[in-house]
Amino acid sequence: MIVEEATQSVQETIAVAQTFARLLRRGDIVALYGDLGSGKTQFVKGACKALHAAASVVSPTFVILHRYEGRDSAGKELLIYHVDLYRIQSPNEIYDLGYEEFFGGEGITFVEWADKLGALLPKRRYEVHCAYGEKENDRTIRIELIEE
Ligand SMILES: Nc1ncnc2c1ncn2[C@@H]1O[C@H](COP(=O)(O)OP(=O)(O)OP(=O)(O)O)[C@@H](O)[C@H]1O
Ligand SMILES: [Mg+2]
Repeated sequence: MIVEEATQSVQETIAVAQTFARLLRRGDIVALYGDLGSGKTQFVKGACKALHAAASVVSPTFVILHRYEGRDSAGKELLIYHVDLYRIQSPNEIYDLGYEEFFGGEGITFVEWADKLGALLPKRRYEVHCAYGEKENDRTIRIELIEE
């Protein structure tokens, strides 16, 4: 599966993410890539909206791990993890965060700056690549399911 969308506003990015989020199931990992300000956090925000997450999603730049309580389509509680690895210096810090919880659990996990996962990158994952377009508010979002 590969989907590529061009968006021209935050609202459009959120809408793309909301549609994508309907595919997500417990245990799924979403690895996000792209430059600073390319829209990764806005994408997570849109996905969380579709998963009925209670907390508002803010950029977790100063807090590496956020947890939100969402609900699946059947209304059952669902934990959502939102990890931002921008500031980590070494993959060891991911162990300290307790990665078993957000990679081995029953929730859905979003990882910004997934490039930093190194060998911890899960073999089955959705990749979301965000990039700048031509105009100020243009972005492209490529979503791909990887099963290694
Ligand atoms: N089409 C668009 N989609 C998403 N964001 C957009 C768009 N156009 C403009 N923006 C702006 O770009 C910024 C995207 O910020 P966001 O925090 O989502 O980026 P990020 O990729 O998470 O960056 P970081 O690497 O710092 O975490 C916001 O300020 C948003 O208002
Ligand atoms: Mg971000």
